[in-house]
Amino acid sequence: MIGPSWLVEDMLRVEQLLLSAAGSSEVPLVGEASTHLIKAGGKRLRPALVMITARAGEPGGTETDLAAAAIELVHLATLYHDDVIDETDTRRGAPTVHSKWGLEVAVLAGDYLFAKGCVLAADAGGEVTGILSRAIAEVCEGQIIETTAVGDPRRSPDDYRRTIELKTAALFGAGCELGAATSGALEQREPLRTYGRNLGLAFQIVDDLLDLVGDPEITGKVPGTDLKEGVFTLPVLIAAEREPLLVERIVAGSRDLSELLPLLHSGGGIEGAVAEARTHVGAALAALEPLPDADWTDALRSIPEGVLAQL
Ligand code: IPE
Ligand code: IPE
Ligand code: MG
Ligand code: MG
Repeated sequence: MIGPSWLVEDMLRVEQLLLSAAGSSEVPLVGEASTHLIKAGGKRLRPALVMITARAGEPGGTETDLAAAAIELVHLATLYHDDVIDETDTRRGAPTVHSKWGLEVAVLAGDYLFAKGCVLAADAGGEVTGILSRAIAEVCEGQIIETTAVGDPRRSPDDYRRTIELKTAALFGAGCELGAATSGALEQREPLRTYGRNLGLAFQIVDDLLDLVGDPEITGKVPGTDLKEGVFTLPVLIAAEREPLLVERIVAGSRDLSELLPLLHSGGGIEGAVAEARTHVGAALAALEPLPDADWTDALRSIPEGVLAQL
C-alpha cells in the first residue's frame, strides 16, 4: 500500500508484531499454519485504517500498534474459517490452509489466530479488547445469517445488506474506532466509525462483484466461488427480482458463471450493485467532511476511491 512515509514505517512495525504473534509457538505446525496467509500477502487494510485514523489524535503509541496487529490477526482468523465454510481453495494467491493441511488444522489455527489477536488486544489495554470483541461477535452473526441463506436466490437484498453490515462493515468500523480510541481522538471517533462502516459496505459489495466479473490474476481468487457455493450476493439478488429466468436457471441447478452472467447484466444486477457501492463510498467520504485537511485524511479519502477503481 502506497501512502505517507509514516504509514510505511507504521506498517513495518505491524508486520513484525504479526509474525512474532502468529509464529511464536513451539509447535512447528502451529507456527507454519498460522503464518501461512501472513506470508502469502494481503492488503493489510484493517491495520492500515487503525494507523491512519490514529493520526486524528496522538499517534505513535504502543496501544495503536498492538490494536493494528490484533485486528489483522482477527481478520486472518475469520479468513481461515471463511475458507472452510466457503470451500475455497485459493486465497491471497496461495492454497488455503484447509486445502494444504486439512479442516482440523484450519479450524484450530483460525482459533489460535483469534486468541493471539485477543492477547495483543489485552496487552494494548483500554478499550481495545471491547471494541474488537464486539466486532468479532458481529462478524460471527453475519457469517451465520449468510450460512442460513445459502441456496436461496429469492433471499431479499435487505437480508444481504444486513449480512455485510455484520460480517464486513463491523470490522472496518472497529478498525477506525481503534485508531481514534488508542490516540485519544474522542471527537473524531464517531465520524471515523461511520467512514469505516460505509467503506466496509462498499468493500464487500465490490468483493462480491469481483467474484462475478473480476480478473483472477488480480484478485487471487477463483471467480464464481459464491455462485458455486450458493452464496447469492447483491448483484444476483437485485437481478433475481427483475429477471425471472435467472431464478428459474438457479432453481434448476445452474451455478455456471458464464451461463448466468448475461442474466445478471440483463436483470440490472451488476449495474445496481455498482451503484450501491458508489453510494456507500459517497457516504464514507461525506463522513470525513468535518475532519481537518491533512495527509491522513487524504489517505482515508483515497481508500474508497481505490476500492471502486478495482471494478
Ligand atoms: C477479504 O478481505 C474478506 C472480505 C471482507 C471480502 P480482504 O480483501 O481485505 O483480504 P486481504 O486481507 O487483502 O487478503
Ligand atoms: C469474507 O467473506 C469473510 C468475512 C467477511 C468474515 P467472503 O466469503 O465474502 O469473502 P472472500 O471473497 O472469501 O474473501
Ligand atoms: Mg469466502
Ligand atoms: Mg464467505
